[in-house]
Amino acid sequence: MPEYPDPPFAEALEAIKSLVPEHLQKPLVGIVCGSGLGGIVECIRDLVLVPYSKVPGFAESSVPGHKSSLAFGFMGHNGSDVPVVAMLGRFHPYEGHDMRTVVYPIRILAKLGIKHLIATNAAGGLNPKLAVGTIVVIHDHLALPNITGMNPLLGPLTSSTYQRFIPLSDAYSPSLRRLAFLAAHHLSFDPTALAEGTYAWVSGPTYETPAEGRFLRLAGADVVGMSTVPEVLAAREAGLDVMALSLVTNAVVIPEGYRSIREEVLAELAGKRVELPVADVVSHEEVLEIG
Ligand code: HPA
Repeated sequence: MPEYPDPPFAEALEAIKSLVPEHLQKPLVGIVCGSGLGGIVECIRDLVLVPYSKVPGFAESSVPGHKSSLAFGFMGHNGSDVPVVAMLGRFHPYEGHDMRTVVYPIRILAKLGIKHLIATNAAGGLNPKLAVGTIVVIHDHLALPNITGMNPLLGPLTSSTYQRFIPLSDAYSPSLRRLAFLAAHHLSFDPTALAEGTYAWVSGPTYETPAEGRFLRLAGADVVGMSTVPEVLAAREAGLDVMALSLVTNAVVIPEGYRSIREEVLAELAGKRVELPVADVVSHEEVLEIG
């Protein structure tokens, strides 16, 4: 079994306590801001920012636009004051972070006492019905890394209260998903603006080939992205209620078939003089004549 250094939970909690005023130290909701969602700080009252560099065990996010800070404060509508902590920037395996670093902030938020986690991300649309700009309330996930040996929860448990085997049949809280649709209705969202679907987690950083996109779609995924699932697993391990939202930022184009270069070449050769491309001519220029 690999040796892991003990995560510096106590030092991290101590550092946060020393930087955040007491009335903000017990957030109820944690929010992970995906790419482009850092603007949420504008909606947080009594905002206090804690840079990741001040919290032992946190890495720095290398993704452009990620602010690498925890944002403490209050959010709410119509006078409600919900204490929140938002992660402005997250860690992805494709940046070179190991899985324990990726999920570490969620474990810290759980230790701070949050009860609910809202994870957001930018994702590619696999389901052709999803227009760019649609928000997808995730109701399930398909995580190939999890079932092929890259599960973020592999390794020793990091708390005596955690269970070894975590059921994921209802990982995405039905009651929070219900709230999302009710809120969209109250906010007069266009009914097509909020959909629900299955998120496929891939490690990235490459986007999908046509064959991979087709495979994920055939396997039942509606959107695909490079984040969120590790955080959801850590949150479920810590007993948190989870909601996850994808903003569809691009359509993953899945062509029905392939353009056959072979057929094209054969058709060209069937009646024409075809000049061989330079790359195919090793030592001399040649004109191929057929028929
Ligand atoms: N594929 C994977 N991850 C993504 C995509 C995509 O098309 N768009 C945004 N994140």
